[in-house]
Amino acid sequence: MSLDLSIRVESALEAQTLAISNTAKQMKAAGIDVVSLSVGEPDFDTPQCAKDAAIQALAENFTHYTDSNGIAELRETIAKKFREENGIVQAVASNVIVSGGAKQCIYNTLMALCNEGDEVIILAPYWVSYPAMVVMCGAKPIIVSGKVEHAYKVTVEDLKQAITPKTKCVIFNSPSNPTGMMYTEQEIRAFGEVINQHDCYVLSDEIYEKLTYGEISHFSPAAIPELASKVITVNGVSKAYAMTGWRIGYLHAPDHVFREISKVQGQSTSHPSSIAQKAALGALQYGSHDVRTMHAAFAARKTLVCELLSQIPGLRFHIPDGAFYVFISFDHAIDDVDFCAYLLEVFHVALVPGDAFGCKGALRISFAASEETLRKGIDRLAKGLQAYGSKQ
Ligand SMILES: Cc1ncc(COP(=O)(O)O)c(C=O)c1O
Repeated sequence: MSLDLSIRVESALEAQTLAISNTAKQMKAAGIDVVSLSVGEPDFDTPQCAKDAAIQALAENFTHYTDSNGIAELRETIAKKFREENGIVQAVASNVIVSGGAKQCIYNTLMALCNEGDEVIILAPYWVSYPAMVVMCGAKPIIVSGKVEHAYKVTVEDLKQAITPKTKCVIFNSPSNPTGMMYTEQEIRAFGEVINQHDCYVLSDEIYEKLTYGEISHFSPAAIPELASKVITVNGVSKAYAMTGWRIGYLHAPDHVFREISKVQGQSTSHPSSIAQKAALGALQYGSHDVRTMHAAFAARKTLVCELLSQIPGLRFHIPDGAFYVFISFDHAIDDVDFCAYLLEVFHVALVPGDAFGCKGALRISFAASEETLRKGIDRLAKGLQAYGSKQ
């Protein structure tokens, strides 16, 4: 008798980011003063308008199964958002699916697209879960790395070289987790031209869309008419509305892809929580002021973090265009996994090694924390770097 488990799942890596924040939480619970700059979630409270919508839904006993693609009013609101804010003129409610976070949207999409042997292009440094999800869906991740001297941007030439008849999908993430880098409209259009010469899809993960700071405006690939029939656009309320725990993400897909994604969701989870859907509706309808307030705080923190980091010798980083991370590389070779473990153990500051994002010799700082926490964490990083250097 064989007690083998799924090779697809066994060969997928666990999320290092979650592992690090779990260790940091355990250390905190044991009374250690740990500064956690590893988390990928806003430290703000969910806006009152979202909480009120949830409370009202409970009071009205809105606690039964919903349409498996999500409630009609929310899908309408999302389609309108895609049309008005993202220039996705073809967006309609009937092609919107609401899921348990952007994460589930991405997983459902890859499940719907991929066959054994297909290739999925992932631009590195990448969000930790993309390669694992691709592997779990039976496909092969093809990693195309951006260079540090180009702000980690992948070029059109890089894409041309990686794309083959086996490519099923290219995953885009702008603003990027972990680098905070954004592609310009011009760059995305140039990528679109390459992709249009092949039979492959684009999965555009736009979860950090609302958190941008520089001159680059967010641009959705699905707004390019010639590309639109190949693009699945993913977004959600986790980051922009500080609603990570509510687990609501959403996507818009062209007809034939929509039908398959809808099947995956219907046969696996049915739909996300009815109450959370109402809360997300409240956020999307009435939360724009809260988004602006949180955005202003993130922008101030970004400036502070970049200022503090620039005072530490031996570090290199690009000022993030968006999201809430700074991705740091070092002037000299460093084992990032060992260094992050050392920082947590000895200096009690949690950061994520670049290795988790497919980029060795770097680390990611999240600035989704208070000014006091950021100052303390960066001070520990500076001390840790010095001590680690003399230990080597
Ligand atoms: C790039 C990226 N995409 C998707 C997600 C998942 O977001 P959600 O909480 O909506 O599942 C995250 C969360 O960290 C992320 O950083």
